[in-house]
This record gives sequence, C-alpha cells and structure tokens, in this order.
Amino acid sequence: MTDSLNGLLTSLGQALEERSGSQPMWAAKAPGRVNLIGDHTDYSQGFALPMGINLYTLAVAAPSATGDNSIRILSTREGEAKLQLNGPDPRTGDWTDYLRGVLSQYRQRNLHVPAMDIVIGGNLPLGAGLSSSASLELCFATLIELASNHALPAMERALLCQQAEHDYAGVPCGILDQFAVTFAEENQAMLLDCRKHSIRSVRIPPQLVVAIVDSGVSHALADGGYATRRTEVEAAEIQLGKSLRDAHTQDLLKLSDETIKARARHVISENDRVLTFAAALSNDEIENAGQLMYASHESLSRDFDVSCPELDTLVDAARQAGAIGARMTGGGFGGSMLAFVTIGEEAAFERIISYRFSDAGFGVAQVRWVKAVAGAQAWNWT
Ligand code: GLA
Repeated sequence: MTDSLNGLLTSLGQALEERSGSQPMWAAKAPGRVNLIGDHTDYSQGFALPMGINLYTLAVAAPSATGDNSIRILSTREGEAKLQLNGPDPRTGDWTDYLRGVLSQYRQRNLHVPAMDIVIGGNLPLGAGLSSSASLELCFATLIELASNHALPAMERALLCQQAEHDYAGVPCGILDQFAVTFAEENQAMLLDCRKHSIRSVRIPPQLVVAIVDSGVSHALADGGYATRRTEVEAAEIQLGKSLRDAHTQDLLKLSDETIKARARHVISENDRVLTFAAALSNDEIENAGQLMYASHESLSRDFDVSCPELDTLVDAARQAGAIGARMTGGGFGGSMLAFVTIGEEAAFERIISYRFSDAGFGVAQVRWVKAVAGAQAWNWT
C-alpha cells in the first residue's frame, strides 16, 4: 500500500473513532477503472478491455456501538446515511442508493450482516467516468462479506453489484464496471468477453504510461442518455434478429433507421477493434493499438453520439501532443479521456493538453497518471 493510501486510511480511521468511539476493525479498498477500448459493447454481449486504476474508494468500519440495528455511514465526500438491516430500505435518489442496492442483495441472500459504523472516503474522482459507482458498490460489498464472515464467489459479487445498480440506481448498465473493479490485476489490463463472462489478461506495454484527463463535464448516467443508447442497441438487435456480437458490417444494410444504423455500426466496429487492439498489444504493435483508440473515439463521438466538445478537444489535443492513442472512456456524456503516452513525453503531453483545453475556453485540464492495480479487497484492520 502506498504512503498516500495509508495516510487516507489513517484519517478515515480517526474519523471513525471520533464518530463512534471505536477503533476500526475492518477496512476495504476498491479501485476505479479505465476502459482502454470497447465502450457500449458490454450490454450486447460484446468485448471490452478495461484495467483497474490506482485511484480508490476506501472504507473503514467497526461493529456498531449504539446497538441499533442499522449501518451508519459517513462519506467524507458525500455526506451521511443510515441503512436499515431489518425492514424496508427504499431508494432515495442519491448516492446512498448504490449502498442500499448492495445491502438489499445481501439481505435477499439471507446473509447476516452486523450493525456497523462505516467511514468512506478515497481519492477516486466522482462522476468522472472512472466507475466511482461500481467502486463504491464493491468496496461496500467486500466489507460486508468480511464483516459477515461469508465470502461469495467473486463472480457472484460482481453480478450482485450490477443488479444493485439496475434496481436501486436505475442505470441499466452492463458488466464492464463491476467486472473490472472486481477482477482487475496489477500491471495488466483484461480482455472481457461479456457473453462468456470470461477474462484474459493483457499486458500493458512497459514503454507506455496511461494518462487520464477529466473533461470537467460531470456525467450522470442516470440522466437517461445511457438508457436511450441501450434501447437503440436493442432495437437494432430486434430488427436483425441477433445479438450485435454476432452481427457483421453487411447486416447494417438491413437497418433502415439512420440513428439505429449508426449505433449498430459503432458496436459492430468497436467489438472488432477490441479484439484487434488486444492482439496488437500482445504483439507489441503499439502504433496500431493507438490508432484503434483514436478510431474508437471517432466512432463513439460520431456514430454513438456520447462524446462532448470538451472530450473531442482533449482527444484532438492528445493527437497533437503525439500521444500513441487517446479516446473518451466509459459511458460518455462527459467524464474522462484516456491516453497512451510514451514514457518520457509526459511533460510535453501535459503542456499541450492544458494549453489547448484552456484555449478552447474549457478551463484547467487535470492530468492524472495511473497504473494498473488489483481489484477490490477487504482486510482486518489489525
Ligand atoms: C458505463 C456502464 C458500463 C458500460 C459503459 C460503456 O460505464 O456502467 O456497463 O456500458 O458505460 O462502455
């Protein structure tokens, strides 16, 4: 664990002690994720290639000191919440729905979850397209399992968190985020087959560093754009009579509606790009991999229409800065850009990105350099 993570955990431990009078007994951390390529492919059984990133949701917890049958939560960034362990715990329409949804999944499985005090914090930016919601869900899920002394298979945990997001947050997401946050590995990205639910490790070339730049446009997938895209993809599948995973470019001729056709064109071409990208990385064909990232962005921006001027400006600037590849990442409608940059060229990249972003009137661009790290885990504090 790095010094800065240890420092963050220590301050969460202090906050817990001040609040509940108890020392932490359990702790958990869950990374965010960045998807290197393959967006809006997961809910039509396609391919994606994410990695866990060293920006985390963190939590510390102790058995409840009050004796009341609930989980009391303080999020240092989002406020307070109280979740009921018995009786109904309906949606509230705010950040606590991710937690309520996860808890309800464990309650449905009759897991005996103890009353606890929890303090949540971390350094993963919220709403920046880096899966802060899946990271929160899995941080909480691993903590619940440790405190309840009952570990579910990791696959079941990832799927129950996805279900929690459907039921409570109202986002009909695919499996990309929860799988990435659960199964992430140090120094590796993963090729995710969203039909087979299988994962293959893909090495990140050692001569590259990964930059993430927040567009500053806060993405809220619950706002409806995400669900609309999903419906459009499903409309294409109904008209073709098959999953877009099994469709080919020729099939596009059978789609008459131009919007539906464009959405399908993105998904079909993106699935191809993911597989070619994975092969390119394995063969050290870095330039090819980078070109596929730029092509993915074009496709998400034009055919899938989930980019925004801020993200398009960042990708243009990355190209100008000589980045090997760059694209928006995640659900879109704002969020972050990711770029592959050759080691040694970080300073020039930052300079050009900052200049172009502010010159376009979008303010200060924050560049973060991230590493691939392992997935969510919980441990005993002492
Ligand atoms: C969001 C969803 C994922 C996936 C991406 C787009 O992050 O939660 O399931 O669909 O958007 O690839």
